[in-house]
Formats: sequence, structure tokens, C-alpha cells
Amino acid sequence: MEKRIVVVASGRGSNFQAIINALKRGTIKAVCGALITDNPKAYAIERAKSEGIPVVLVDYATFSSRELYEHALLAALKKSQPDLVVLAGYMRILGPEVVREYAGRMINIHPALLPSFTGLHAQRQALQHAVKVAGCTVHFVDDSLDGGPIILQRCVRVMDEDDEDTLAERILIQEHIALPEAIRLFCEDRLTIDGRKVRIQ
Ligand code: GRF
Repeated sequence: MEKRIVVVASGRGSNFQAIINALKRGTIKAVCGALITDNPKAYAIERAKSEGIPVVLVDYATFSSRELYEHALLAALKKSQPDLVVLAGYMRILGPEVVREYAGRMINIHPALLPSFTGLHAQRQALQHAVKVAGCTVHFVDDSLDGGPIILQRCVRVMDEDDEDTLAERILIQEHIALPEAIRLFCEDRLTIDGRKVRIQ
């Protein structure tokens, strides 16, 4: 049966666009049921609208506590009935309830070769550490910070002249390949989580 994916994004949404493109090409055989965003100014909203994908705004700023926000986010997710939740540039840490509800059914893209450089400004952290190779990771989400079982990684060279922007740009090209690829594998039921290891059939 065709899977239903729901994307959660906070900003520009270029990864979301890469997913849309793969869906339109038929590389991923699934439907995108909704875009959920915490940010009314997210450009991802325009991308969803131009494809006729329903947008659900759970505006973080309008909630009086983190708990209430998380509760609304969980309700929005449940309502959109995803087989797979894709965090594509969602810039907040998810609460335990949401993580538990979608264990094994929620993936995230992170712009670093995990477990190095978790959290914010991963590319800056990579440059500060002066690594020679950087990249991106798609992983299942668990209750650790960017620490869930790894599905795919892609790497890029770090150049002497790189700044945060040029490195982020080079990594982003790989993100746009890795994230749709991981979604495709999930939708084809080819991923199995075995402890820390994700087996790909
Ligand atoms: C990406 O680098 C993603 O890995 C990170 O935030 C950025 C989002 O970019 N978590 P976009 O919104 O998909 O263009």
C-alpha cells in the first residue's frame, strides 16, 4: 500500500522541495499528506501551497508553554495520520511524547556526520574542529539529541577556503540526495532497526 508521509519543517524547506521533486518524479511512491510547521514565516509553506499539499501551522509563539505546544504538535501529527514523519529542517527538539508515539516511524536530516557535531550550527562546529571531511546523516529519531539509529550518510570534502556558508551549501546538495533516498527505502519497507543498526535490504 502507498505510504503517507508528513513533513515537519521550520524554514526554507529546500529538503522538503527535494522530497516533493522525488514524489513528482515517482522515485518515491508515496503521498505527502501534510506539511506541519512551527513557523508562520517558513518558506516551506509556499512550497506546499504551490503543490496543493495541506499546511498545518502549529505556531510555537502562540503557546504559553512548551508542553502545550508539544501537545498541539502531537495532535496535528495524529490528525494527519502519517506512516512516516520526516523532520526536514525542524529546528526544535521534540518532546518525549511525540518521539515515543512515532518511534521507528520518524526520521531526521542532520548536516553533519553523526555522532560528530550534534545540535545547532553543525557546519560551524565542523569548521571549528577543522575536520577534512563533513557531510550529512539521515537517522531515526529517538529521545537523544541527533543520536538515533543511522540510515544513510553522505560526505563532502572540506576545503581550506570554506566558510560556514560554502560548507553548508556543499553539504545541502548531499542532503537533497540522502533524505529522499532514505524515505524511498522506508516506503519500500527495506529498513529494519536492529538495536543501533539500521539494516537495508
Ligand atoms: C538543513 O541543513 C538541515 O539539515 C538542517 O537545517 C537545514 C534546513 O534546510 N537541519 P532546509 O529548510 O531544508 O532548506
